[in-house]
Amino acid sequence: MNNKVGVCVIGSNGAVATTMMAGIALMRKGLVPRRGMLTEGSFGKKIADLAPLDSMVFGGWDLKTDTAYEAAVQHEVVPRHLLDKIEGELSAFRAWPAVASEKFLKTFAGKNVVGAKSAREEISIIQNNIAQFKKDQNLDRVVMVNLTSTEKHTQLEDVHCSISAFEAGLDQSDERISPAMKYLYAACKAGVPYFNFTPSLSKIPALEALSVECGVPIAGEDGKTGQTLMKTVLAPALALRDLHIDGWFSTNILGNNDGLVLNDPASNKTKIISKKEVLDSIVGYKVEDHQVHIHYYKPRGDAKEAWDNIDVSGFLGERMQIKLDFLCKDSILAAPLIIDLVRLIDVAQRRGERGIQRQLSMFFKAPFHTINEEPIHDFFKQFNLLERWVEGEKINEPAHTKKSVKNSVYNPSFEVNI
Ligand SMILES: NC(=O)c1ccc[n+]([C@@H]2O[C@H](COP(=O)([O-])OP(=O)(O)OC[C@H]3O[C@@H](n4cnc5c(N)ncnc54)[C@H](O)[C@@H]3O)[C@@H](O)[C@H]2O)c1
Repeated sequence: MNNKVGVCVIGSNGAVATTMMAGIALMRKGLVPRRGMLTEGSFGKKIADLAPLDSMVFGGWDLKTDTAYEAAVQHEVVPRHLLDKIEGELSAFRAWPAVASEKFLKTFAGKNVVGAKSAREEISIIQNNIAQFKKDQNLDRVVMVNLTSTEKHTQLEDVHCSISAFEAGLDQSDERISPAMKYLYAACKAGVPYFNFTPSLSKIPALEALSVECGVPIAGEDGKTGQTLMKTVLAPALALRDLHIDGWFSTNILGNNDGLVLNDPASNKTKIISKKEVLDSIVGYKVEDHQVHIHYYKPRGDAKEAWDNIDVSGFLGERMQIKLDFLCKDSILAAPLIIDLVRLIDVAQRRGERGIQRQLSMFFKAPFHTINEEPIHDFFKQFNLLERWVEGEKINEPAHTKKSVKNSVYNPSFEVNI
């Protein structure tokens, strides 16, 4: 067996995807430091048999027909002088036609879409792409990652709730089955580990069950990169000091394509739900006024600004405020997490793991969990899960049960408080 991993990226022309591909190419040439990845630091040395960065190869689907080089130039994340040093490598990459639906992504203007007549045909095209990629690149192992634009907010319906209902839905090309779900279905059936870095709904009960049945590890959802990372680091400290959080106001401005997509209220709602869920379970009470806002502001491009105002009260009930201003670079924070996740979920597959991978929770705003399970949001507890898993402990049993499913994404009556 060679230790070469193929990465099938859904949304391979996007800012995060092209930053990751460019980053791998630049690290391989020794032109940039190997920084920002948990698996490349001292922690990575504790994990046996990580796939080396140098042998990762990429394939993927996108709505756009540009090469990865052209796409990376447009995203303006990786400096041009660096991109030009890997132009040949990135120019050789073109995406396979995508499985897409205007019903789930209003703003999509792509031309590179599969010409399938049915949902079943779409899935077989995805599977053929994976099989051909493995053959062409002589790969033993492949990982699939969802890096597409955020789909509109989707309610859980009957067709999503069991494998048989879902497969009957596929037979009828049921419109309630989203592209994100079709890709995950194809991954399970192809035995390919999968993670969802977007907030789009993919882990429905039918596909959670299928991932277990097919022996496929899955993880998600919505990468925890900037504001939510800070929130899940700060909130545990405030809770430990018994500083009561009276309100937490979070707002963001960003001007990349992700921000443009999030300008559509239907996609915005998906993201905000994913960002809002984290606080109450960390502090152990309902934070009365937790607001999250996202605004598209073009001049910023990928250089997002995330502000937080936290109102706290302490001893004698005295009130105080904390202000946080994170001037971050969205894709620079996200790309190394994709590399970590590819390597870790690949190890999980080889360890015989299947279904939800809770040890990967620290990478996500809304960690996959099963119905009635309370996901862990506290960053330090999440890291502890990963440490224990690396040491060989079996942690993939749902440990925390919710008292009620109120405010769960599975509850159709859930409303966002903004
Ligand atoms: N810090 C971060 O950048 C960060 C953090 C958390 C989550 N995310 C999520 O990651 C995703 C990617 O972010 P980005 O900034 O790269 O976005 P992007 O808009 O630059 O890229 C998305 C790509 O997906 C493609 N696409 C859309 N629908 C598709 C489909 N059905 N099949 C194949 N391709 C499709 C688009 O053409 C585009 O090239 C977004 O959903 C975003 O919310 C990003």
